[in-house]
Amino acid sequence: MSRPICIVGTGYVGMASMLGLADLGWKVHGYDIVPERVDRLRRGIPPYREPKLPELLQHHIEHRNVHFFDSIEEAASGSQVVIIAVGTPSRDDGSADLSAVRAAVEMLAHVQFATWPTIVLRSTVPPGTTDSLSALVAPWGNLIYAPEFLREGSAVHDFLNPDRIVVGSATPAEAVPYVTLLERLQKPVVFTSRSNAELIKCCSNAYLALKISFANEVANLCGAFGATSDDVLRGIGYDQRIGPHFLRPGIGFGGPCFEKDVKSVEFVSAQYGLGEGLFSATLRVNEGQPGRVIRILEEEIGSFAGTTIGVWGLAFKANTDDIRDSLALRIVDELGRRGAKMLVYDPAVHVAPLPVGSRLVTSALEAARADALLVLTEWPQFARIDPTAYASGIARRVVVDGRNVLDADRVVAAGLIYRGIGRSGPSATERRTSLASALTV
Ligand code: UDX
Repeated sequence: MSRPICIVGTGYVGMASMLGLADLGWKVHGYDIVPERVDRLRRGIPPYREPKLPELLQHHIEHRNVHFFDSIEEAASGSQVVIIAVGTPSRDDGSADLSAVRAAVEMLAHVQFATWPTIVLRSTVPPGTTDSLSALVAPWGNLIYAPEFLREGSAVHDFLNPDRIVVGSATPAEAVPYVTLLERLQKPVVFTSRSNAELIKCCSNAYLALKISFANEVANLCGAFGATSDDVLRGIGYDQRIGPHFLRPGIGFGGPCFEKDVKSVEFVSAQYGLGEGLFSATLRVNEGQPGRVIRILEEEIGSFAGTTIGVWGLAFKANTDDIRDSLALRIVDELGRRGAKMLVYDPAVHVAPLPVGSRLVTSALEAARADALLVLTEWPQFARIDPTAYASGIARRVVVDGRNVLDADRVVAAGLIYRGIGRSGPSATERRTSLASALTV
């Protein structure tokens, strides 16, 4: 296929699809409704942070594999495949706001296509959406649904290394132009209906979210029981039917996808008289998790009024500067309401709405000059800082590790009180010592 592929929307799904397809040897046109964004992209400035993204973007611009447009006609008219990757945020009632998807389809309806186009919807939408939009497309093209399973921070890598490719279409033949683009990946393809593909997407995310809530429940139980969640979850994850992924306990899942997707499945289920079970429980556990972390800190330092809390991490996860629906931000807000001031350090976040009196600082050690230290994002570099470098700065000696990323033994050895999520059992050193003495009996 020599025609360029057009991508509508240059968020992380659109950009990952664009650069991934360019890596596979296709020419790609990117369109965005925000002209300043297009302008920055033309100059090689990515719209969000991801390792290796600037280099990759620069490479494909220089090799003329990608072009950016602020006119949909110019971007799409020569394409046979047009991918829609625009946002579908949650409304207050949990339903998905599909106005950007609808606007994209309506815009494309006015394009004078040189050939009959295949329109590929990649935004996450509730089941039934693609079928209901297909009437708008039928007079001038085919509409199919191809969900993405891309994680922020590794989206291009995930695009090029999918576990499976899912494509939903009215007939198998309609899926072919899109699947042909990805042939070189040699991955299993699930050909199915459009509604099935939509359900695969939102239920996959609901399951991953459920797994995190399960890990948090287990870790909370470990904390109450005096057990060690690291060992318990590792032991569970070794069972190949369960698997080790998405069993990291912490402050709960954040970001623009999981909460929104589970809410959306719950909303649709409720319309069919279902959904009061697992979907609701997944969200309930997640909503409770920030409060648990705050309570652990409170147990150690008492009232927050007049305290200064050092915070490591604000992004909703490591390797991104995204603070959308970040539970770290929710915790910081709540601490601010209770009278604490925060010194916040995140390696990637340089602007954030913080409570009055709190501020972003430029180093982890600067943030740690406080009454207590709270770790809220799982940046691996936090674990690499020697605790003796910050121990003396923490006036009340307390470290609450909301992501279980620090080495508890090293923190304690530096003279600090360490609390993690379900990490109240004996420390690794104590376990090794008692194991050694048991073996010598
Ligand atoms: C997610 C899905 O993984 C991806 O397939 C989908 O298409 C988009 O949504 P993303 O939101 O980028 O990707 O991040 P992910 O790595 O899945 O993490 C989501 C949240 O869960 C983060 O806040 C992360 O810190 C948290 N998390 C993840 C845990 O708390 N524990 C875990 O074990 C894994």
